[in-house]
Amino acid sequence: MPDDSLKGASEHEPREEWRSRWGFLFAAVGSAVGLGNMWRFSYLASEKGGAGFVALYLLFTVVLGLPVLLAELTIGRGARRGPIAALAHYGGDAWRWLGAVFVAAGFLILSYYGVIGGWTLRYAFEAMSIGFASDAGAHFGDVASGFDSLGTQIVFMCLTVAVVSGGIGAGIERVARIAMPALFLIMIGIAVYAARLDGSGAGYAYYLNFDLEKALTIDVAVAAAGQAFFSLSLGMGAILTFASYLPRNSHLGRETVVISFADFGVAFVAGLMIFPLIFALGMQGEISGSTIGALFVALPKAFESMGFAGRIVGGAFFVALVVGALTSAISLLEVIVSASMDAFGWARRKAALLGGAGVTLAGAWSAFRIDLLDLADSLATNLFLVGGGLGITIFVGWVMDDPVAEARVGSGGSMIHGIWRVLLRFVVPIALIFILWNSLPETWGKVRAIFWPG
Ligand code: PHE
Repeated sequence: MPDDSLKGASEHEPREEWRSRWGFLFAAVGSAVGLGNMWRFSYLASEKGGAGFVALYLLFTVVLGLPVLLAELTIGRGARRGPIAALAHYGGDAWRWLGAVFVAAGFLILSYYGVIGGWTLRYAFEAMSIGFASDAGAHFGDVASGFDSLGTQIVFMCLTVAVVSGGIGAGIERVARIAMPALFLIMIGIAVYAARLDGSGAGYAYYLNFDLEKALTIDVAVAAAGQAFFSLSLGMGAILTFASYLPRNSHLGRETVVISFADFGVAFVAGLMIFPLIFALGMQGEISGSTIGALFVALPKAFESMGFAGRIVGGAFFVALVVGALTSAISLLEVIVSASMDAFGWARRKAALLGGAGVTLAGAWSAFRIDLLDLADSLATNLFLVGGGLGITIFVGWVMDDPVAEARVGSGGSMIHGIWRVLLRFVVPIALIFILWNSLPETWGKVRAIFWPG
């Protein structure tokens, strides 16, 4: 069979497109906003000492995240192909491997993301039917690993496959346009509610008290950089893929700013709802008990102690989590789907079904063992996303012909693009190499602890 993946879909049938600018924005923000903003952000913020971590994370979002975000948008919109074919389009066949690493990263992330997505589904349903368990820690232990976890993972993945099968406009865009505004409303509602609870002040203090000494450690910097990439869905082609369905006249600079600020805003507001709730209800001891499960233990405990109001607030909270998780999972699966549509000529539905089934199978490990889930998360974020981000910066900064001209299409010239180029060529790669290098001991430590304990 001749390799026609380089020709692009337009020669066979017109490439799908977003129905509107808002549709794209909701989908891209939907990809960015997810478990990363709530589950991951809150456990890291508490594990890494609160506000110092938050400040570094904001800094990295601006200095490292924004340039890479614009780079992914530029490649995707310009090439109008999935990640592997897009990189080959601008860099030649030798760059296909980087696209393949992206697809592998999507596979790895979705494998455990679907497991956590399953937990959120279960908690949302339980809040609305039987209420929160009286022993939240034991309950989490029961449902977070084992066949329960596998079952909810499968349900969550079926939902993801169903949406992606529907296509760009009729599936992904339609869901994002309803889901994202609902998520924003729920979050603001809960943050306001939490602010009015007695004792919430301690939560704000914990979350917002800046401790410079704690922030200035390599460990915190590594975590904050990884989180900036994870939260913005960068370094593995998700945003690149979504951008490949954009019309040529879209204004990429403007979209970069909207997506990144929406994402940071949601993470910040998530902190404003989570910490005051936990502190007002005296559950702060639970946070340190199990970092990964903090969200699924401390908060349900707080909701349970609030009686009926807790079921309403808690139900809404977990519904928002489901929504965030689902719209992110969709974008992860879309990377795999669009790449296999390009490479094998599969129909969308077939690609979504096979991709979803493969990911679910691979994720079964994480459904049975939380330590493997934690390891997959470290590997995916610290190695794949930060490494993938490095690959993209080098690609756009040094390999691609005139990225500035491509980025400017639809927005006109501005000085910003010149700064962008310099950041991509020098500042971002150097910072990412430093971070990647320094993250290796921790990741390696986790590998050793699991495979060669003792
Ligand atoms: N950004 C998503 C979140 O915060 C996770 C994600 C990572 C999605 C990478 C796509 C690609 O939950």
